[in-house]
Amino acid sequence: MSQKILIDTDPGIDDSWAILAALRSPELDVLGLTTVFGNTDVDNCALNGLRLVELEGNDHIPVARGAGGPLVRSSLDLGTMVHGLDGMGNTNPSPPKGELDPMPAAQFIVDTIKKYPGEVTLVPLGPLTNIGLALHQAPEIASLVEEVVLMGGSVFAPGNISPLAEANVFHDPHAAELVFRADWDVTMIGLDVTTKILVRPADLDLLYAANNPASQLLREIQPCYQDFHDQFYGLAGAFHLHDPSVIAYLLAPELFSCIQAPVHVVTEGRCEGKTIADIHRIWGERNSTTVATSVDSKSVVELLTYIITH
Ligand code: RIB
Ligand code: CA
Repeated sequence: MSQKILIDTDPGIDDSWAILAALRSPELDVLGLTTVFGNTDVDNCALNGLRLVELEGNDHIPVARGAGGPLVRSSLDLGTMVHGLDGMGNTNPSPPKGELDPMPAAQFIVDTIKKYPGEVTLVPLGPLTNIGLALHQAPEIASLVEEVVLMGGSVFAPGNISPLAEANVFHDPHAAELVFRADWDVTMIGLDVTTKILVRPADLDLLYAANNPASQLLREIQPCYQDFHDQFYGLAGAFHLHDPSVIAYLLAPELFSCIQAPVHVVTEGRCEGKTIADIHRIWGERNSTTVATSVDSKSVVELLTYIITH
């Protein structure tokens, strides 16, 4: 039986690869996409969500628009420098054919979890605002989800939007804190592993050779993402694979090693957005999160390439 997942996302170039990989995996049953601000504004993210489900005929999968900004934080630092103004690498994509689900994302999350108690894996790939709102609206969802597997945070690796903070957590640290302190099972796929997963130009040659709609879309949008990685990290055409790593984890958790530790989020000041793992349980006041700390990078890239090309 396939695993029911609900993806909360800010597409986004790496989100696009993650969503396409999930849609193409028979082991996963994508119940819907909920969208949030982050890599671009929430309207663009919602349109991109629709484009992605339509790309290979998954129009029946609902896409619900969510939060346009963080719960408390006043500034909105969109990731358009990394993902383009449209979130699709400045490729100016054509309008989607379908319509958004009329339900706001947080309500959609609550209703979907209640419809399938104990069965839904929540997969956040962007700022955690919609999840925070859903928890606020219906705290009982914490006991009704199967688990939460998210891309965000960093324990040992440097940040990617400040010296300490990972972008998804930084965009809405208060929402992230709600997610890490709730009484549910959370797995954190953060920069500790995603910055070790490098996609190189030779991997892209394989990916693009498939010549199907998914690989062709990635071929169009990825140059913008590569340019950013060149400028910031000097990676010479290679790039970090953030969001798709979550899909790899769902399909092949044995490729990752994890530790158990309660996670706290710094919500104010210069270190805002930093995730702290209380490894020795000195504060000891909340459930442990499963934190991914190492990964078989080559196998993750091979797996994700295989899914797009077959
Ligand atoms: O830090 C990486 C995360 O920030 C990814 O989810 C990427 O899509 C951006 O949102
Ligand atoms: Ca994302």
